[in-house]
Amino acid sequence: MAETIKVMISEEDVDAKIRELGERISQDYQGKQVHLICILKGSVFFVCELAKRITVPVSMDFMSVSSYGDGTKSSGVVRIAKDLDETLEGKNVIVVEDIIDSGRTLSYLLEVLEKRNPASMSLCTLLDKPERRTHEVKVDYIGFQIEDKFVVGYGLDYAQKYRNLPYIGVVEGVE
Ligand code: IMP
Ligand code: MG
Repeated sequence: MAETIKVMISEEDVDAKIRELGERISQDYQGKQVHLICILKGSVFFVCELAKRITVPVSMDFMSVSSYGDGTKSSGVVRIAKDLDETLEGKNVIVVEDIIDSGRTLSYLLEVLEKRNPASMSLCTLLDKPERRTHEVKVDYIGFQIEDKFVVGYGLDYAQKYRNLPYIGVVEGVE
């Protein structure tokens, strides 16, 4: 069977949800500046759209961590491949993720980032697969909770493909 993508969350629904998250963050951080940390590569589409919907001053930084191999299976390793350029000292940090699955990447990362003395730190994810959690993480902003399916699009890849899809889809026809 050929690989096909079935739409799970439409472009319109993703856009509307990001607008909503942007409004919530703008409310919660009134009078402050937020420092968005984009976890590459998956969160890059989400962080750009989210940043545009936040009305308080925004700064951004990028970090790359890997915990996954090339397919849908975890390699079991969390590694900082690219660290942040700027200090977190005194900043209101929001870590922006594409998806929280086991929570392993995030629980490791939050521990590392907390040590850098931010004024505050919260976590925002577009997607959440709560059923898969093995590592507890406190998530402040969640776009959608989804069932345990491997999803692509809006930054999420399957073997580096499909990141550019403007919606969230499920890959069908693969083992
Ligand atoms: P965790 O450490 O298990 O929470 O893994 C989180 C990372 O795994 C995410 O940031 C994604 O890069 C990747 N990931 C987990 N589930 C999916 C999925 O359904 N599609 C694409 N990537 C995923
Ligand atoms: Mg990711």
